[in-house]
Amino acid sequence: MAHESNYHPTSRFGKWMDERLPVARLVHGSFVDFPTPRNLNYLWTFGGILSFCLAAQILTGLVLAMHYQPSGAEAFNSVEHIRRDVNYGYMIRNFHAVGASMFFIAVYIHIFRGLYYGSYKAPREVLWILGVLIFLVMMATAFMGYALPWGQMSFWGVTVITNLFSSLDGIIPGLGTAIVEWLWGGYSVSGTTLNRFFSLHYLLPFVIAGLVILHIWALHVAGQNNPTGLDIRTKADSVPMFPHAVAKDAVGLFAFLLLFAWFAFVMPDYLGHADNYIEANPLVTPPHIVPEWYFLPFYAILRAIPSKLGGVIAMFSAIAILVFVPWLDTSRVRSSKYRPIYKWFFWLFAFSCLALGYLGAMPAEGVYVFWARVFTFYYFAHFLLVMPIVGLIETPHRLPRSIAESVLGSGGAATPVTAAAAPEKR
Ligand code: HEM
Repeated sequence: MAHESNYHPTSRFGKWMDERLPVARLVHGSFVDFPTPRNLNYLWTFGGILSFCLAAQILTGLVLAMHYQPSGAEAFNSVEHIRRDVNYGYMIRNFHAVGASMFFIAVYIHIFRGLYYGSYKAPREVLWILGVLIFLVMMATAFMGYALPWGQMSFWGVTVITNLFSSLDGIIPGLGTAIVEWLWGGYSVSGTTLNRFFSLHYLLPFVIAGLVILHIWALHVAGQNNPTGLDIRTKADSVPMFPHAVAKDAVGLFAFLLLFAWFAFVMPDYLGHADNYIEANPLVTPPHIVPEWYFLPFYAILRAIPSKLGGVIAMFSAIAILVFVPWLDTSRVRSSKYRPIYKWFFWLFAFSCLALGYLGAMPAEGVYVFWARVFTFYYFAHFLLVMPIVGLIETPHRLPRSIAESVLGSGGAATPVTAAAAPEKR
C-alpha cells in the first residue's frame, strides 16, 4: 500500500491485536488518515454511494431469498406473496427492485466521471479495468435478477438475450444452438432456466464484492485522481479522508437516498415495465420486448447491425472497448477541463449514449434504425478515432501549478505543465 498509516493503538488490547492482526491499522490507513485531494467535487462521492448500493442489494436480496420460490409454477406468485403478506415485504422488494436501477444510475455517473477527468490514465489502468469487470458482472447479475419475478418481460427478455448465442451457429454450425440449450437446461426457457439463474444471481454479488475490494485496493495504491488531474505533490494538496472526504460522501449519499426513497416509496414501478405484472406465458409474445432502461444503449447497438452475429459482436465490443481506453487516449493531460477540443467530443459521446438509450426503447424500424446506426458509429469512432487523434493534435489549456493552487489561488510551488501532464511517463 502506497500510504503508511500513522495509526497508534491506545488500549492494551489494541496494541496486542495490532501485533497479531493489524486490521484496525489497515482500516485507519485506508479510510481515516488516507490523503485525499483537497479539491474533490461531489462526483467523487459516487464510489461510496456504489459501495452502499452493493451492500443494500445484498442485504435486501438475502431477505427476499428467504421467501422467494425459484420454480416456474411458483415464482410469480411468491413475489406477490412477498409484496402482500410478508411483514415489510413490499418495502424490501421495492428497495431491491428500485435499488438495481439506482445502482446503475450511480455506476453510469461514476464511469462518466472517470471518462471526463481521465481517471483511467496511468497509473490507474488496473483500477479502471477492474471497474469494467465489475460493470460486466453487474450487468449479468441484473439480467438474471430481472428473470426472477417470472413476468412476461422476464421470460421474453431471457428468451431473446439467451437466443443471441445461437448466432455462433454462423461460425461453427451447431455450436450456438448447443450453447443456448446448455444455458436453458432444455429446449426452451423454463423453470429449470429460472432455477439456475436464481443460483447465479445469488452468487454473483459476492464476486462483485471481491472485485470491489481489489478495485479499492488499487485505488489506494495509485491514489485518487481529482478535477485537475494533477498528482498530489505536497501536503497542502491533500486533506485526511476523515472527516473531510467522509463528510462530503455522507452529504452525497443522503441526497442520493432522497431520490432512492422517492422512487421506492412514491413510484416503485416507474422504472420497470408494466408487462412484468403479467405472469410468464410461453404462448403469448409481448408486442415490444424491451430490457430494463440501463441495458437500452447496448440493446440499440445490438439491433443497429443488420446481421445477428454482427450485432452480438458489436454489443459485446461496446463494453470490451472500455478496457483499452487507457491506451487509446493519447492525451498528455488527464482532465477534460483543460482539453478545449476533446471536451466537446466528450459531451457528444454522452449525448450519443443517451440517444442510443432512447432508440433502444423504440421499435427496430425505419428512422429509428437509421439513427441507431449513426450513434453506434459515433460510439466506436469516439474510442477508435477521437481519443487517439484529438490527444495528439490538441493544445491543452494551461494547468494550475498544483492542486492547492486550484483551490486556494496562486502561491503554490511551480509545477511545469509537462510534468503534471505526462502521467504515462511515470
Ligand atoms: C460496484 C461498483 C463499484 C464500486 C462499489 C466502486 C467503488 C469505488 C470507490 C469507493 C472509489 C473511490 C471514490 C471515488 O472515486 O468515487 C472508486 C474509484 C474509481 N472507480 Fe469505482 N466502483 C465501482 C464501479 C466502477 C466502474 C464500473 C468503473 C469503470 C468502468 C470504476 C472506475 C473507477 C475509477 C477509475 C476510480 C478512480 C477515480 C478517481 O480517483 O478519480 N468503478 N470506485
